[in-house]
Amino acid sequence: MPEPVAPIKNQVDEAEAKDAGRDLPLSYARTLSSLSLAVVLLTNLALSFFISNSARETLLTRQENFMRVLVENLNYQIFRRFALPTILANGRISLRQPSQYERLDQVVQSVIHGLPVDRLRIYDFSHIVAYSTNKEELGRSGLAPPNVEDVLHGEASKFQIISNIPAWQAPFRIPFADGDFVLRVLYPLRGEPLQPDMPPPVMGALEVTQDITDDYEQVLTFQGIIVIMCLLSSMVMFALLLMLIHRAERVLAARMQKTRQLERELHSNEKLAGMGRVISSIAHEIRNPLGIIRSSAEFLQKRMDKTDAGAARILGAIYDESVRLSQTVNDFLDYARPRQPRQDTADINLILDQTLAFLEGEMGRCGVSVERQTAPGLFVLGDKDLLYRAFYNILVNGQQAMDGPGVLRVSADRDDRGRVRLEFLDSGKGFDPAVLPRLLDPFFTTKDGGTGLGLPIVQSIIVSHGGAIEFENSPQGGALVRVLLPAAPQGKKAV
Ligand SMILES: Nc1ncnc2c1ncn2[C@@H]1O[C@H](COP(=O)(O)OP(=O)(O)OP(=O)(O)O)[C@@H](O)[C@H]1O
Ligand SMILES: [Mg+2]
Repeated sequence: MPEPVAPIKNQVDEAEAKDAGRDLPLSYARTLSSLSLAVVLLTNLALSFFISNSARETLLTRQENFMRVLVENLNYQIFRRFALPTILANGRISLRQPSQYERLDQVVQSVIHGLPVDRLRIYDFSHIVAYSTNKEELGRSGLAPPNVEDVLHGEASKFQIISNIPAWQAPFRIPFADGDFVLRVLYPLRGEPLQPDMPPPVMGALEVTQDITDDYEQVLTFQGIIVIMCLLSSMVMFALLLMLIHRAERVLAARMQKTRQLERELHSNEKLAGMGRVISSIAHEIRNPLGIIRSSAEFLQKRMDKTDAGAARILGAIYDESVRLSQTVNDFLDYARPRQPRQDTADINLILDQTLAFLEGEMGRCGVSVERQTAPGLFVLGDKDLLYRAFYNILVNGQQAMDGPGVLRVSADRDDRGRVRLEFLDSGKGFDPAVLPRLLDPFFTTKDGGTGLGLPIVQSIIVSHGGAIEFENSPQGGALVRVLLPAAPQGKKAV
């Protein structure tokens, strides 16, 4: 069974489209768009980090300011309402005495009452807890943070976020549990300066902690939303850009393909025009003497002695060959100087009737049967004589390919684009895949007596009617020639 092959027209189109795609000046735009995606993505990410970071900073600054005011007020109240009266009354401060502790606690509680403070401690110079809102911690050592020493030596207050969740993991561990993020401030607890030009003495270190988990979680959620939105918007932009480029590429490829086709047609037309001039002058020189040879042979055939069989055979051969030669000359002329088709409304069924009727005798002699399946009412705008010529060439090729008895199937209908579709399928060996790309080359033939102009003429006729021709091997064997022609507008009268 012959190997099925794709229609050669489509093969050429695909190859051209690929070529066109390769040469496209837009191909660099793809790289550019990928780069731009990377740039947009990075910029967006940087921007989103910047925005959310500044939101975090604002939150921390707000909390720090609040804590600063709180600890300064605490310091003032502790000194005025506890330290000074206690020293004046007892000579020294000893928080181990319950009465002193109670008094300090009252002062502290009155200041922090209703404020978001979790814990408050005061460390003495031995880093021991001298006061804590949690009475059980009183007198314990080892609870002071490492930088307490700096504060005890009078350094400025220190703010720190304390968490056991690493910063980089935090965005992925939302929601947090209470106390996951705590803001701690260490502040030197000061008294009044002993002399006006001396710095106020440090009495201990004040530590205040505040749970900022909720605020921190809000900032991180905000940061996540910004990052995701940026990513999504970049992706959408990129997809749109790609779609645009893809579309532009397709349009450009189609245009380039069209331009190439036009160039090729122009080139081939130029070649044909040159060839046509030469051939028509040669044909003119050949046709007249050929006509004389043919009519002379015919004349001699009539007048000669019927008993001389040898001479009759020679004259018959001269006559037949001169007829064949003048047909070949006419083919050359048809190919080299294609006629402009008339624009009549032609009935495809009628043309097929005439062609098949003409070939009936010859086909019958060879044992070829014709199976015809044609829909009624198929009209095209064109030249019925030229279309007759085209169908005739295709049918003769089919009959020759079968080389003896066989079946020729002819079908005609409308395709899904409303075009008139004719299919000629023979039961021969099918197209040799090796010669398939050359079928439309002028003078290409595999037959002894062929000119190789049959299919090029068919193609030129079909194309001049705005149609297309396709060649393929049918899956069930045999060569299939498909002709597609634009249907005639409704309402025109057939001739
Ligand atoms: N139905 C077919 N089955 C197999 N091969 C075909 C068929 N039709 C055409 N061909 C191949 O295509 C070639 C070119 O055909 P074309 O009609 O152009 O010229 P030709 O038939 O050889 O010569 P001419 O048409 O002048 O008699 C043929 O020689 C043949 O090899
Ligand atoms: Mg032929």
